[in-house]
Amino acid sequence: MRISAIVGVLFGIGQYSLFSFLGTTRAQIIPGDYTGPLRPQVHFSPPQFFMNDPNGCFLDSNGTWHLYYQYNPTDITPGNQHWGHATSKDLYHWENQPIAIFPPDNTSQVFTGSAVIDVNNTSGFFPDQDNGIVAIYTLNTPTKEIQAISFSRDGGFTFTAFDGNPIIDSTTMSFRDPKVIQFQGSWVMVVAFSADLVVAIYTSPDLKTWTHASNFTHADIGELFECPNLVEIPIDGSDETKFILSISTNPGPNKGTTMKYLVGDFNGTHFIPDPTDNVVRVVDAIKDSYAGQYFYGLPDNEAVFIAWATNGDYASDLPTASEGWRSSQTLPRRNSLTNVSGQGWDLVSSPFDLSPVTGPALANATEVVNNSMSIDYSDVSSNALYFEADITGLTSTASGGLLNFTFSSPTSGESLSGVYQLSNNTFNLDRNNTRGFDNTAFEDPSSFDVSVSPDADGNLSVAAVIDRSIIEVFLNGGKLSGTALFYPTEPLRIFSVSTEAMPPDAKVTVGVWALNSVWV
Ligand SMILES: *[C@@H]1O[C@H](CO)[C@@H](O)[C@H](O)[C@H]1NC(C)=O
Ligand SMILES: *[C@@H]1O[C@H](CO)[C@@H](O)[C@H](O)[C@H]1NC(C)=O
Ligand SMILES: *[C@@H]1O[C@H](CO)[C@@H](O)[C@H](O)[C@H]1NC(C)=O
Ligand SMILES: *[C@@H]1O[C@H](CO)[C@@H](O)[C@H](O)[C@H]1NC(C)=O
Ligand SMILES: *[C@@H]1O[C@H](CO)[C@@H](O)[C@H](O)[C@H]1NC(C)=O
Ligand SMILES: *[C@@H]1O[C@H](CO)[C@@H](O)[C@H](O)[C@H]1NC(C)=O
Ligand SMILES: *[C@@H]1O[C@H](CO)[C@@H](O)[C@H](O)[C@H]1NC(C)=O
Ligand SMILES: *[C@@H]1O[C@H](CO)[C@@H](O)[C@H](O)[C@H]1NC(C)=O
Ligand SMILES: *[C@@H]1O[C@H](CO)[C@@H](O)[C@H](O)[C@H]1NC(C)=O
Ligand SMILES: *[C@@H]1O[C@H](CO)[C@@H](O)[C@H](O)[C@H]1NC(C)=O
Ligand SMILES: *[C@@H]1O[C@H](CO)[C@@H](O)[C@H](O)[C@H]1NC(C)=O
Ligand SMILES: *[C@@H]1O[C@H](CO)[C@@H](O)[C@H](O)[C@H]1NC(C)=O
Repeated sequence: MRISAIVGVLFGIGQYSLFSFLGTTRAQIIPGDYTGPLRPQVHFSPPQFFMNDPNGCFLDSNGTWHLYYQYNPTDITPGNQHWGHATSKDLYHWENQPIAIFPPDNTSQVFTGSAVIDVNNTSGFFPDQDNGIVAIYTLNTPTKEIQAISFSRDGGFTFTAFDGNPIIDSTTMSFRDPKVIQFQGSWVMVVAFSADLVVAIYTSPDLKTWTHASNFTHADIGELFECPNLVEIPIDGSDETKFILSISTNPGPNKGTTMKYLVGDFNGTHFIPDPTDNVVRVVDAIKDSYAGQYFYGLPDNEAVFIAWATNGDYASDLPTASEGWRSSQTLPRRNSLTNVSGQGWDLVSSPFDLSPVTGPALANATEVVNNSMSIDYSDVSSNALYFEADITGLTSTASGGLLNFTFSSPTSGESLSGVYQLSNNTFNLDRNNTRGFDNTAFEDPSSFDVSVSPDADGNLSVAAVIDRSIIEVFLNGGKLSGTALFYPTEPLRIFSVSTEAMPPDAKVTVGVWALNSVWV
């Protein structure tokens, strides 16, 4: 995301602080205190200061996941953009690394981009290795946004700028967020002409010289195009794949920013949406997911993305500034396509294997038909849980039937609730009864409706990860998913589930697991 879109003006920090920072911490890991009551424990957040879009995501040949991110290392608001860096073996236990890419001069910022592994040395940057990394990103200069590359000979830890930059010049301030993939021996870039509502596709044999191949636009996406991704996604239950083109844009279904997608085919130069599926849908049905990026270097038939877990309308105002940091990324999400809506292929988005962070079961297969259960999880030190409620036998509709899950604080009276109503197949998430963030855009709306139906066999599942100040909800195994921030003044610590007026054949079982902190 172009950070000036959030704040209106580019960075307010003095050059003195920038250079004292460069002088002292170029190769250092910025320390972080991850103990604050709002600080997520199984999500990635920066050690200090302001983070936005995920960048340069790739999986290396040793099984290490690399996450770079838009980062202001000197302030709690956007500006002075660098590429922060973290690595992980499982996408949950992240190790903060030194900043990977610095601005080339003191009037430019390193904006969003991607990274690839140049195994065949197509760039010529890598005389004697097959694990060279090339980062492709936007340089935001005072007069134009241009595309540039840097290369890394040490597996993605330190980078050197190409002396032939820019690789794609421009005359506009609205040309950003290159995402590069490999397709049939050629490099392919999607990049946004943001204000023109165009995704341009370029191709290259060597990552240095690029040829414009096509322009894509669509009337139903939004008012700004950012962070496009072109990615091959497996279709559930088959060996087939389809391409999706995802675009971060606004407005979303609940105002502010969102990420949308179209399903289609890619032939090396053009993205062609399915004729039967020219329908634009959202990747995340709630409000706090933007600028998602797919990891490069995954085996066939795998698609994993991570997104910036916030909304452009209030990202710069989040109350976590009191703890010295702003923004987390979403959970890593595994994606596939399936046919839910009858409108074409729908994206399924579920948490990447949670087992590395899964702790003891607090409830297991507890039955709650026309009944309720409650768990005090005060002694779960992470304050983070995963739960899943599975309903079967929803073959008839009971008037007034519902499933309600609520996280609450008995001392402050705050709560966060999710309610599935059988009568109209609506799921509602309500964060209005948490009071730690007084912000008009955050509160408008603060209650979110999502349409979701039982499958043909009458089964419906409601699952969520709650992590101090962020909840991610997964309905029907991720056929619908949504991310919401919430800010209680005291940690929520009672979890309850109840169901009412269920149909006679319905069964409901609930499992609840503590999640182990990856940070403390
Ligand atoms: C940064 O800006 C100052 C003042 O404009 C200039 O003197 C200095 O050479 C610049 N430094 C770099 C690294 O470009
Ligand atoms: C990589 O490319 C460079 C520049 O073309 C060349 O000098 C080098 O021999 C190449 N290395 C390999 C292993 O192909
Ligand atoms: C993989 O690990 C080996 C041995 O530790 C190391 O030499 C190599 O650089 C690593 N590769 C990458 C891509 O980091
Ligand atoms: C590397 O070269 C091999 C053999 O020509 C080719 O199959 C493969 O697609 C190339 N991969 C990349 C990432 O360039
Ligand atoms: C592609 O779109 C960009 C942005 O609107 C425009 O400047 C460019 O001329 C277009 N290219 C072609 C070949 O239409
Ligand atoms: C790709 O699709 C475009 C648009 O339909 C078409 O003009 C082009 O010829 C196709 N290219 C190939 C290689 O099929
Ligand atoms: C999805 O299912 C509907 C029927 O519900 C069917 O009409 C449509 O062709 C299917 N779409 C795909 C892409 O299989
Ligand atoms: C859940 O209960 C089942 C049946 O009692 C048991 O086999 C299983 O191990 C339990 N799982 C956990 C995570 O406690
Ligand atoms: C859900 O449960 C909570 C806690 O018991 C309660 O305050 C709330 O009113 C319930 N919501 C609905 C729609 O029943
Ligand atoms: C769904 O039904 C419930 C219960 O009647 C009602 O409170 C809610 O407003 C309805 N939601 C929608 C989106 O119609
Ligand atoms: C949210 O809560 C406030 C009180 O804290 C109340 O005034 C407001 O009406 C609520 N908004 C909604 C949409 O429920
Ligand atoms: C749940 O309550 C409804 C009436 O509200 C009733 O029709 C249904 O049989 C009850 N289910 C069970 C399993 O008791």
